[in-house]
Amino acid sequence: MKKKYNKLKECKLIELPKIHDARGNLTFIEGGKHVPFEIKRVYYLYDVPGGAVRGGHAHKKLQQLIIAASGSFDVILDDGYSRKRFHLNRSYYGLYIPTMIWRELDNFSTGAVCLVLASEYYDESDYIRDYEEFLRMARK
Ligand code: TYD
Repeated sequence: MKKKYNKLKECKLIELPKIHDARGNLTFIEGGKHVPFEIKRVYYLYDVPGGAVRGGHAHKKLQQLIIAASGSFDVILDDGYSRKRFHLNRSYYGLYIPTMIWRELDNFSTGAVCLVLASEYYDESDYIRDYEEFLRMARK
């Protein structure tokens, strides 16, 4: 049987530049340089109550970089064949997520801020919110 391409391998932690300073550290991100896409949108999740689960969808066109700007949380990624859990707890690492990856976020610490850089403007028609539909599309 033909071996299926492992798209989860494209999901990776990217170490971002960190300017260490006794007055406080600084990290910067330039679109197309530190992330493999131009940044069109930034959003962030905060005030997440304990036990909450976010995400629960995939995107047809959107690529993202997810950063734990403060605190920590887990990101579970699924390419339709296997799953991988990443624990994000450093503000100078970003998790790159390409197109067509199902994601869920959980295990948020108190005060966690999940910063997301996105390759596209918000577009509800880009979302796949039904897991069975995602599996059908991902396994085609
Ligand atoms: P959603 O992407 O489902 O949240 P998450 O994946 O973090 O759990 O978005 C939640 C709501 O916010 C949904 O009604 C769409 C809206 N929204 C926008 O209007 N603009 C945005 O950029 C984002 C990310 C969401």
